[in-house]
Amino acid sequence: MNTYYNPVRTYQGAGSLAVLPQLVKDLNPGRILMLIWDESVLQNRYIKETAAVYADKLDIKTFAWSNPELFQLYEMYNETRNGKYGLVIAVGGGSVLDVGKSLCCLFAQEIESVDAMRSLIEYKTYKRPACKWIGVPTTAGTGSEVTCWATVWDSEYDKKYSVDTQDNYAYAAIVDPVLASSMPVKLAVSSALDAVCHAAESYWAKASNTVSRAAALAAIKIIMDNLEGLLCGKEEAHDCMAQGSMLAGMAFSNTRTTACHSISYPLTMQYHIPHGVAVSILLAPVMRLNMPYIRRREELLAAFGVADVKELGEKINTILEKSGSPCKLSQWGAKEEDFEEIIAHSMTKGRADNNPADLTAQNVKEILEAVF
Ligand SMILES: NC(=O)c1ccc[n+]([C@@H]2O[C@H](COP(=O)([O-])OP(=O)(O)OC[C@H]3O[C@@H](n4cnc5c(N)ncnc54)[C@H](O)[C@@H]3O)[C@@H](O)[C@H]2O)c1
Ligand SMILES: [Zn+2]
Repeated sequence: MNTYYNPVRTYQGAGSLAVLPQLVKDLNPGRILMLIWDESVLQNRYIKETAAVYADKLDIKTFAWSNPELFQLYEMYNETRNGKYGLVIAVGGGSVLDVGKSLCCLFAQEIESVDAMRSLIEYKTYKRPACKWIGVPTTAGTGSEVTCWATVWDSEYDKKYSVDTQDNYAYAAIVDPVLASSMPVKLAVSSALDAVCHAAESYWAKASNTVSRAAALAAIKIIMDNLEGLLCGKEEAHDCMAQGSMLAGMAFSNTRTTACHSISYPLTMQYHIPHGVAVSILLAPVMRLNMPYIRRREELLAAFGVADVKELGEKINTILEKSGSPCKLSQWGAKEEDFEEIIAHSMTKGRADNNPADLTAQNVKEILEAVF
């Protein structure tokens, strides 16, 4: 049976931020926390308007970090825990959306230390979210505005957690390409390739369904058809990336990801490879492994605009190189003698076991060797 569920109201397209003031008015949330990646977003007409109307009920905090660490999430929680907020508006990349989303869950209880927060997140003992959130992405890639989980990194313990509950979907997502158009090309491409991987992995995931597969194909096509435009600085390309990343988010919100994401986490942790680069480097070799198990694989290749997996690998590498990101693990400082440890951290639950082909230590070794 095919089932699909995603309750997020979405507003997408140039100028869609205009709905923000009315959305907040309709919610009548009491106190509001606005979490932003940079003060420049406060210059946007609709964010400015919202901030002005709710000035006496609004706290604004900046979270400028990428890949939020547990201790950074705790710091933000500690700064805002007594705010009695009815709404969090998160305006930023996946990192800011994930922190804003996590806070909604964490506000529901008193957490007295980083260790207590670690254990609460690891054992998923959080309560129902204490407030609603609206996601306004300023990168085009993670799709976090339409998923119900948030990634929290814990370098101290070489771990990565998810604050993950179906109760924590956003009240609304506003995906306006104007906010992402300030991204430098390298970040724009890495974000877009993250979305492509969300879509491709969702397409072949064991947990896929008819709706998720349709959204996944549409996402891959619109992003791949417009990556060259993004590299050349074409304005329209930003809207295509915004559409694609949201569609990819819709797809993988119901299926989760598979081997590319599972293997990418230790690569990001160990060598600081940006998330979108790490997953996309792995895309072609993982697809090669999965090929016999992918239904309607010709539709997937057509969405990518390639004839086979070899061509896909070359296409992704060319795009990465043009954007200024190396596409070989060795160029990121990886060493073959690290592989054993990388493999040991590659099998994350819910992703490795969601991959259509069995993911064994030998398979992962071959995938790493293929992109070394
Ligand atoms: N929750 C989910 O569903 C989900 C899905 C995929 C990835 N993630 C997580 O999202 C995080 C990565 O998010 P990301 O790739 O969006 O990057 P990011 O949010 O980490 O942002 C990258 C950098 O770009 C800056 N930035 C943000 N918007 C900008 C803009 N418009 N112009 C210029 N700079 C800008 C940020 O301040 C940051 O320094 C990781 O922690 C990843 O694990 C979450
Ligand atoms: Zn991702």
